[in-house]
Amino acid sequence: MALLNILHYPDARLHIVAKPVELFDTALQVQIEDMFETMYQAKGIGLAATQVDFHRRLIVMDVSEHKNERRVFINPVILEKEGETVYEEGCLSVPGIYDNVTRAEFIKVRAQDGQGEFFELEADGLLAICIQHEIDHLDGKVFVEYLSQLKQSRIKSKLKKREKQNL
Ligand code: NI
Repeated sequence: MALLNILHYPDARLHIVAKPVELFDTALQVQIEDMFETMYQAKGIGLAATQVDFHRRLIVMDVSEHKNERRVFINPVILEKEGETVYEEGCLSVPGIYDNVTRAEFIKVRAQDGQGEFFELEADGLLAICIQHEIDHLDGKVFVEYLSQLKQSRIKSKLKKREKQNL
């Protein structure tokens, strides 16, 4: 297994729209394992392939308290959305920034697992929020894009400054 490099906003590659996964081969299994390792190491609860510069529709997630409930969503589609909820979100691609985002409270999603088997899942709470956040990544969207232009430019300059200090 290997740790993957996580792209940081405002990296333009975070805006690439991911293509469907077509091959459920060994290379995909390695990619899934590497993404879980990278997500756990970074103390994240979800990671979309886009964030590690792999532009296929693949998400790994674990929102459990004890980090023992691995979930894989491949080619996910939201079938139903209901209600509204506001949550203070963060993102491994936007380190140190947290802000409120409004999303659907309940969702029904259809996706494939690592072997290509289709499944459907009804979710609410943090799981539903996380699924919506990660699907946005596959569509090239980062959560800060829900915030005002003023906040977005502040976040951009803050992250650029921090990146320079780390060089
Ligand atoms: Ni994110």
